[in-house]
Amino acid sequence: MSITLSQAKEKLEKYGQSHVLKYYEELSGTEKAALLAQIETSDMDVIDSCRHQEELLRRGVITPLAAMQLPEIQANRESFTATGLEAIRAGRVGAVLLAGGMGTRLGSDDPKGVYNVGITRKLYIFECLIRNLLDVVRQADAWIHLFVMTSDKNHDVTVRFLTEHEFFGYKAEYVHFFQQKMALAVDYDGKIYMEEKGKMASSPNGNGGWFVSLKDAGLLETVHEKGIEWLNAFAVDNVLQKIADPCFVGATIQKNCVAGAKVVRKVTPDEKVGAICLEDGRPSIVEYYDMTEELLEAKDDNGEPAYNFGVILNYLFSVAELERILSQSLPLHVVEKKIPYIDGEGKTVKPEAPNGYKFENLVLDMIHQMESCLPFEVVREREFAPIKNRTGIDSVESARELLRQNGVEL
Ligand code: UTP
Repeated sequence: MSITLSQAKEKLEKYGQSHVLKYYEELSGTEKAALLAQIETSDMDVIDSCRHQEELLRRGVITPLAAMQLPEIQANRESFTATGLEAIRAGRVGAVLLAGGMGTRLGSDDPKGVYNVGITRKLYIFECLIRNLLDVVRQADAWIHLFVMTSDKNHDVTVRFLTEHEFFGYKAEYVHFFQQKMALAVDYDGKIYMEEKGKMASSPNGNGGWFVSLKDAGLLETVHEKGIEWLNAFAVDNVLQKIADPCFVGATIQKNCVAGAKVVRKVTPDEKVGAICLEDGRPSIVEYYDMTEELLEAKDDNGEPAYNFGVILNYLFSVAELERILSQSLPLHVVEKKIPYIDGEGKTVKPEAPNGYKFENLVLDMIHQMESCLPFEVVREREFAPIKNRTGIDSVESARELLRQNGVEL
């Protein structure tokens, strides 16, 4: 039993959101209950953040963090790989697919992973990722637990799709699904949009909530039971990436770091990727729009740009360290977004341009909570083919070209 109508009214009044109940009397019994439950469980404190966004993302002092570069990796490849394979064989490494995003830039209503990048045959994004993981399973001759994060918006389709395709050859008992939380979506005045008469508009709360959501889904127990000590979190849209890469895992372990971040050398100092760095002495990522002239021009001891390595959303985390930071909150990012809503007459409007804000936590901010992090360079053309858009930069087109270059038949 969720809160009563009068309790809901009280909560909404407190946050200046009484309009949420405008259509309440028109709703069926089930819809009424669902709306009351949504009001009860929704975090409305976040809404206030859109009124003081500047303060939220204030940066500390940025200094360089040296990456482990290709020559060093090459010189130690065998040893790193042996250490990584040993950890994988002992079941100490798991993978976390962050697939709760909306993929709005790709312009499909389906989850991104079900997108077909093939041309003469079907080759789904999920399939590309699972194949990459299967390469490591074969190399290690051991299965790796794969945790798949979805959201309320794409959970059922994702589960159905992967089940129907028999996980593209992955062992079903090694696949675990969990859903991330949703966050309310508001207009520019901080008023909650209504998606339906009985439902407040919401969107997935960003990829930074993954560990909390994994825990809330009861899967931290599975992590412990299986003896998993490392979790490799990765994005759904980089079809070339190596997952649970033994060399990366081994390098992070040998360097005694509690986290690792795969990075690529930037094409130009002002390339639009987040650069790995230290912030107030701790590992961090400075977004491209926060790069000052001074940072852009800074050089390291070898005369190379000091902030030359961009993250590609493939991070390794020590589980113990993730548990240590569970009680810490992540900074909130307020993001402008196109939010479908019902207008004064109750009709659905799908806006062409952004019309409000969504609230997100980001996985890159978790790196700043880590005691240490190894930036690990990878060859861009081999491991970085993100699909964000349909055409142009980071698109289906560019990813297809890179897949071809890597010998993948399309
Ligand atoms: P993006 O930042 O590219 O966001 O996500 P998106 O929602 O997928 O795409 P756009 O911006 O709407 O076009 C980077 C990664 O983080 C995951 C995505 O699924 C992707 O793997 N993600 C993002 C989540 O898992 N949850 C979220 O709430 C947001």
